[in-house]
Amino acid sequence: MKINKLIWVRLITFSFFLTTACYACSDDSDTPLDTPTEEPGNGMDDIDTSGVTLKEAIGDKFLFGAAINPWQLDINSSKEENRREGEVVLKHFNALVAESVMKWRSIHPDKEKYTFEDADAIVKFAEENGMTVIGHTLVWHTALPDWVWKDVSTGKDLSAEQLKENMRSHINTVVSRYKGRIKGWDVVNEAFNDDGTYRESPFYRILGKEYIPLAYQYAHEADPDAELYYNDFELYHSTKCRAVLQLIGELKAKGLPITAIGMQGHMWMNNPTVEMYENTILAFKSAGVKVMVTEWDMSVANGQNIYPNGLPKDVEAKWTQRMIDFFKLFLKYKDVVTRVSTWGVSDSHSWLNEKCTDYPLLFDRQQQPKPVVEMMIRAALADK
Ligand code: XIL
Repeated sequence: MKINKLIWVRLITFSFFLTTACYACSDDSDTPLDTPTEEPGNGMDDIDTSGVTLKEAIGDKFLFGAAINPWQLDINSSKEENRREGEVVLKHFNALVAESVMKWRSIHPDKEKYTFEDADAIVKFAEENGMTVIGHTLVWHTALPDWVWKDVSTGKDLSAEQLKENMRSHINTVVSRYKGRIKGWDVVNEAFNDDGTYRESPFYRILGKEYIPLAYQYAHEADPDAELYYNDFELYHSTKCRAVLQLIGELKAKGLPITAIGMQGHMWMNNPTVEMYENTILAFKSAGVKVMVTEWDMSVANGQNIYPNGLPKDVEAKWTQRMIDFFKLFLKYKDVVTRVSTWGVSDSHSWLNEKCTDYPLLFDRQQQPKPVVEMMIRAALADK
């Protein structure tokens, strides 16, 4: 097979950066870095935060987003809770991600049927309110209807050609519809296992790893100006981080744009450490891509119903400290972090409540800001 000179140059350049970047991937042997914490007398106490919202304080350091469902944008709703959710979204956030309604099963449930109403409503709301929209997500093993990869009459996998055609027409139809209106897409979501191997999704089983560059190619053809992201969770596992670095190189070698890595920010009280997350940001930075902190939330309950009626003060204090520590990390890397998005708005509607009562977000069950919000505003205003 003849590989042209340009591709060789790209491959050589990439192997050099992969060697450098992998040193930065986090794992247990990494040297811990200093974790900034809120110290009294550091000058931040003097800042007047009254009336300042999160998005105003953050300004143009990075976009500040939330995952939402259409009902959370109904600021004229007769239901007080819906109204309050909408008011928080409008007041504090400037970027929207659909929590569910742009996923394959929602937007394209049957081969011949697209259901765009909910996605359209989000894009319209964002445009009317000067907000950015991020598309989530085009190719994911979850929320995937069977017809995409299976002959429903025989139960057998479709051929590689049939699956490619389903991917191409889905990506083309969805991305083209929002061309110029959606800033960027999570093109592929969660393709790797923690050990860096490819997840055995129907896409991988039928097409092998080439399904990923194909997805980027189809998205780029549909909207050449859209940013294209790869999004995954727990990228601080060094094996997984390396797999994504490798993927970045392969996409670049093929001339496909990969703008940023979405580092899902699903966190717990002890994991990850700020250092692990920092090292992972650094690894992607040295690979020449931007980073987005996507899907940020911090579970206190970790799937156990241990706090059904509220949080003990010490747990709440630890949660607040961890959240502000991470937020300061994001500020520190504002040269490479282009967006931070929480996965939901208030505790009352976090996806984590599907398992138990949890407290992962910035706004409480009455949609009131938690103490960390003011700390974040103060930190963002102090950050020059
Ligand atoms: C979740 C939604 O929040 C839930 O409501 C839904 O039941 C399942 O999907 N990683 C992702 C998100 O990329 O799309 C997932 O969202 C959470 C994990």
